[in-house]
Amino acid sequence: MDFTSTGRPRGFILWFTGMSGAGKSTLSRAVRERLAERHPVEILDGDEVRTFLSRGLGYTRPDREENIRRIGYVARLLARHDVAVLTAAISPYRESRDEVRRLATEAGIPFIEVYVQASLEVLTRRDVKGLYKKALAGEIPHFTGVSDPYEPPESPEVTIRTDEEEEEASVTRILAALEERGLTT
Ligand code: ADX
Repeated sequence: MDFTSTGRPRGFILWFTGMSGAGKSTLSRAVRERLAERHPVEILDGDEVRTFLSRGLGYTRPDREENIRRIGYVARLLARHDVAVLTAAISPYRESRDEVRRLATEAGIPFIEVYVQASLEVLTRRDVKGLYKKALAGEIPHFTGVSDPYEPPESPEVTIRTDEEEEEASVTRILAALEERGLTT
């Protein structure tokens, strides 16, 4: 384990990206469970962030970019104080994700991108929030993956297919990616 001068493991940013309902929040909570015994952990979840930090922002490109910029900023503040920060926002634009990666890396904070993927067919079948049905009916104008773009990461550290892999196996692979980088035991 990579200890800092405080004697605790060091902070990092584990950045989940993927379409609504793909499993970002579920996976981030499962990873938190596993890390929390030995590491201070915070989750910055899109849905929650949008009720506090990003209240009033919508889903146009500039608003999403602003949302991601804010999440990245808070993630860096926390991570530099040794918190393991898990973010779970769609973050559909490659440029925004690359920007937060760059700023984290420049600040010496490890940044691990996790692409959480499921087919549109599976997402529509799951449709936990009932949003895909509405979007496909043309009722939500800027809905990611239906009427708005999602740009998949080109070289994420981890790719998870939640429509093909069990949650436990996915969590194990994410923890292995952290371990490989000396970020956990
Ligand atoms: S992001 O694009 O700015 O990263 P974020 O993760 O914060 O998005 O918010 C996505 C959540 O907002 C979705 O899970 C969904 O519940 C809700 N939502 C409402 N409208 C939209 C939309 N047009 N596109 C995507 N998600 C939407």
